[in-house]
Amino acid sequence: MNSKRIYLSPPDLDGRERELILEAYESNWITTLGPQVDAFERDICKRTGVPYAAALSSGTAALHLALILMGVKQGDEVLCSTFTFSASANPITYCGAAPVFIDSDASTWNLDPLLLEEELQSCKKKGKIPRALIVVDLYGQCADYDPILKVCAEYGVPVIQDAAEALGATYKGKSAGSFGAMGVLSFNGNKIITTSGGGMLISSNKEVIDHARFLATQARDAAPHYQHSQIGYNYRLSNILAAMGRGQLENLDKKIARRKEINTVYRKLMSDIPGMDFMPIAGYGEPNYWLTCITVDPLQSKSTREDIRLALEKENIESRPLWKPMHLQPVFQSCRVRGGSVTGKLFAEGLCLPSGSGMKADDQQRIVEIIRTVCNVS
Ligand SMILES: Cc1ncc(COP(=O)(O)O)c(C=O)c1O
Repeated sequence: MNSKRIYLSPPDLDGRERELILEAYESNWITTLGPQVDAFERDICKRTGVPYAAALSSGTAALHLALILMGVKQGDEVLCSTFTFSASANPITYCGAAPVFIDSDASTWNLDPLLLEEELQSCKKKGKIPRALIVVDLYGQCADYDPILKVCAEYGVPVIQDAAEALGATYKGKSAGSFGAMGVLSFNGNKIITTSGGGMLISSNKEVIDHARFLATQARDAAPHYQHSQIGYNYRLSNILAAMGRGQLENLDKKIARRKEINTVYRKLMSDIPGMDFMPIAGYGEPNYWLTCITVDPLQSKSTREDIRLALEKENIESRPLWKPMHLQPVFQSCRVRGGSVTGKLFAEGLCLPSGSGMKADDQQRIVEIIRTVCNVS
C-alpha cells in the first residue's frame, strides 16, 4: 500500500501565493477587507469578463446572498439542478423556500432544458411561478445556457449560475459565471483554485454587488456608531485568503491545461475497458476539467464502480461516487422533482477519479493499472 495518500483534488500551491500572503501579513490588513480583497475581486472580474464581484467566505454564502437579493422568501419555490453538491440547494431552505429539482440531460450531465420547460409549464398551470433557478455547471462543464435562459426569460424566472466547480470553463466563448443575473464561484480546498475556503458573487449589476457587500458585512448602516436596519451576515473573505486566491488565479490556465492532460490520459488508457464511459464533453464549450468522471455499466463490465473504488482505497487512493442527486437525499425527500432517472443511474454507476493538477504522471499510471486489473483487462 502506498503510504502517501492520493486525493481526488488536493490544493496545488505552485505560484506567488506565499509572496502575496506575506504582503498581506506585512500590510497588517488582517481582516475581512483590504487591498488583497479588492485586487482579488478585480482579478476575477478581469478573468470572467463580469464587471462586478464581491469576495465572500464561501460559495454557499454567495448562493445564500444571491437568493436574498432576488427576494426569495418563505413559501417560495426555487428550481435547482438535482445533480449537484448539497450546497447548491441548502441556501434555498435558509430562505424558508422549497427546492424543486430538475434532472440532467444524459448528453451533458447538466440540467435538462426540456425538463425545465415542462416544469415551468406545469408551474404556470398551477399559478405558482418559481422565484429563481439555480443552474449548476457540473464537474467543470457549463450547462446549456441558450435554451435555459430563453425559457426562463419566457416565464420571468431569474437565473443564478452555480459555477462553483467551473471557474475557467466557457460556454460558446463566454466565461462560466457570466450567465444569468448572478454567478457564484467557490475557492474551497478541493476546487480548481483555492483560498482554503472562499467564494465570490459576480454580476453585471453594480447595485446587486454593492448590496451583497453590505449584507455580507453585517448590514451596517452608514453611521459613525454601529447601526443596523436589517439583518446582516458575516460573509466577507479575509484579506489573507484573498492574497492566496490571487496567487492561485495567476496559474489558472496552467491548472486547467494540466487537468485536461490528466483527463486525456485517462481516456486514452481506459477507453477500451468494456462498459466504461467518461463524462461527455459538450460541443458548446470548453470545460475546466475539474474532475475526470467515469461510469461503469455493470451489465457490460466484469466489475462495478464500487469494486474500482474499493480497490483504489486499498491502495490509499481516494475516489468518490458521483454526486448523489438531491432528490434522492433523505433531507430533501419531500421535495418535488422533474425526471430523476438520468442522475439516479449516474449516481449508481459513476465515479470521480483523482484529478488534481499536482498529480504525478506515475501516480496516474498506477491508478490506471489498478483499474484495468479490477476490470480484468490486461
Ligand atoms: C456545485 C457546488 N455548489 C456550491 C458549492 C459550495 O461552495 P463552498 O464550499 O465554497 O461553500 C460547491 C462546493 O463546495 C459545489 O460543488
